[in-house]
Amino acid sequence: MFLTKKEEQMCDGEFGETIRKSMDILVALGDIYGASKLVDITSAQVSGVSYKTIGQAGLEYLEDLASEKFEYSGINASLNPPGTDLDNWESLGFPRDFSIKQNQIVDAYAKLGISKTCTCTPYLVGNVPRFRDHVSWSESSAVAYVNSVIGARTNREGGPAALAAAIVGKTPLYGFHLDNNRKANLIVNVSTELSGADWGALGYIVGKTVGGGVPYFKVKNTPNNNDLKTLGAALASSGSVALYHMENVTPEWDITDKKEVEDIMFVSDKDIQATREKLTTTNREADLICLGCPHASLEEIKQVANIVRGKKIKNKLWICTSVSVKATADRMGYTEIIEASGGNVVCDTCMVVAPIEDMGFEVIGVNSAKAANYVPSMCGLDVVYDDVEKLIHFE
Ligand code: F3S
Repeated sequence: MFLTKKEEQMCDGEFGETIRKSMDILVALGDIYGASKLVDITSAQVSGVSYKTIGQAGLEYLEDLASEKFEYSGINASLNPPGTDLDNWESLGFPRDFSIKQNQIVDAYAKLGISKTCTCTPYLVGNVPRFRDHVSWSESSAVAYVNSVIGARTNREGGPAALAAAIVGKTPLYGFHLDNNRKANLIVNVSTELSGADWGALGYIVGKTVGGGVPYFKVKNTPNNNDLKTLGAALASSGSVALYHMENVTPEWDITDKKEVEDIMFVSDKDIQATREKLTTTNREADLICLGCPHASLEEIKQVANIVRGKKIKNKLWICTSVSVKATADRMGYTEIIEASGGNVVCDTCMVVAPIEDMGFEVIGVNSAKAANYVPSMCGLDVVYDDVEKLIHFE
């Protein structure tokens, strides 16, 4: 991979150890994937945050990296969800030792220049790249959204690579950064109208088929942004989709010559219903309804507030979101309505990266196919998959 004189000096440690270690990662990646050079990025999103997944070794690595002096690139970089609500962990019942360690991890990232936005939907809270910008994002649902809905360019980075890219302000030029690799290789004809949890079911079906390919959707009804984030999260969890197109909806929908695409699949209402049933793993009722995967938008919190207004919820209810979106929900009175019904708007964390398996829950109700896919494997708990209105039961 070609390096400029300054990049070579960065590799040689002339700009400090943190920069040298970051360049090591980026150059190794570029060499493995045949990148021609490094390209400047405008934004980063860094995963690998939960103490549940990176543990003590991860915390020590980050604190070590953050202890060195270096000049941060200055680009807008957001942190993915940690395993606790950073401010309200105690009142919400998150484990104490875990939450303290978790705060230390987030502090180390902040020292490295990564904002404590702590969300997988940074595009809702100020980290919004422009169309065609090169970026380095790592949380898989966020990658699918920023590539597909915004039309910025990123590979599906690992956490360390996105952190290195943020520190240096560059990423290797290969994969989805190049026009040719962004064309669709599977056409998906959907023959039924979709709503609510159907979008996640569609993503789950297609992700399993396309793997790391680029699907092109022809759908009967136009999704909103919340549907698109749900769809992308599901595609990225049952497969490893980083980019999808949707006819007349996403910004690069017309870059593919459809005549050149040989693979075509059809998805019917029967397929959607069968997948919805398959994602539910138990007949039992959920003891925790956990919404906001990917993190909830203000409209989604408003929708829940309207459902629960003036009623008492039978099961526990969390709506996971960023601290920024919650601040607006507080102002709008949505949080108060939800809390009066017995639910909580939980910041920063989510049902997959939080240690919910240690918090006394057994069955989790979700409206996200990504959460339905990961909660059994990552938390060892059962799942009920359904629309929000059907998940919440009242006294
Ligand atoms: Fe976000 Fe957690 Fe889902 S990180 S996409 S809410 S699994």
